[in-house]
Amino acid sequence: MSAQQLSFYQTTLGKKVVMAISGVILIGFVLGHMAGNLQIFLGPEKLDAYAEFLHSMPALLWGTRIVLLVSVFAHFLSAFSLWKLNKAARPQAYAKQVSQATTYAARTMRWGGVIVLLFIVYHLLHLTVGAPVAGYEIVHGKVYDNVVNGFSNPAIAGFYIIAQACLGLHLYHGTWSLMQTLGFNHDKYNHLRRNIACGVSLLITIGNISIPVSVLTGCLS
Ligand code: HEM
Repeated sequence: MSAQQLSFYQTTLGKKVVMAISGVILIGFVLGHMAGNLQIFLGPEKLDAYAEFLHSMPALLWGTRIVLLVSVFAHFLSAFSLWKLNKAARPQAYAKQVSQATTYAARTMRWGGVIVLLFIVYHLLHLTVGAPVAGYEIVHGKVYDNVVNGFSNPAIAGFYIIAQACLGLHLYHGTWSLMQTLGFNHDKYNHLRRNIACGVSLLITIGNISIPVSVLTGCLS
């Protein structure tokens, strides 16, 4: 990294740009992952064949995993670094929080982000590694059965539903802010920015929640 690049990252804007670009990559993954997972409604053969297809291309699979890992790391590090900068600029918290000007989603970005991170760790241990965190053993390659078995337990389904709601709030404010950072910011278009943020977060939240809800209600078994 050159001295010039380093000094750009050290600015607030530099950190926000890193957050925005890594955010775009992560939203792209979450959208693609959701579209893939929704094939569960087409039956076990379709979903298991899709997973087998992805695993049959190790270069693509590991390439994606590395990009995701770097993006999560960059996203977390720039968020933490921005938080530290803000704290240094205002060492004493406001005596009274003025929260009318900001949305609930904006105020919960940090804790929401931590909950999403904890969800990802649990989710990887549960469905990718197959560690004994969900009270049953997954069978590699039997993705449909693994997901339905997991969500048949209301505690696991409930945890996934809560995590998806946190992710939805995080994505709503995240999409809104990243468009601002990347220059899509003009009074004339702000309503469009809000609609896009709302559309993306609702699509992902409803799409993901539909899976545990369908298992809990017996639509998927
Ligand atoms: C209800 C929602 C979700 C379901 C049903 C689901 C399902 C799955 C399944 C079955 C796998 C293992 C696939 C395989 O081994 O072939 C997986 C992997 C994964 N999921 Fe999810 N997922 C959901 C939501 C999410 C969300 C919201 C995120 C990120 C925020 C996420 C991130 C990942 C990652 C990073 C992997 C590992 C992919 C790899 O093998 O490299 N998932 N998911």
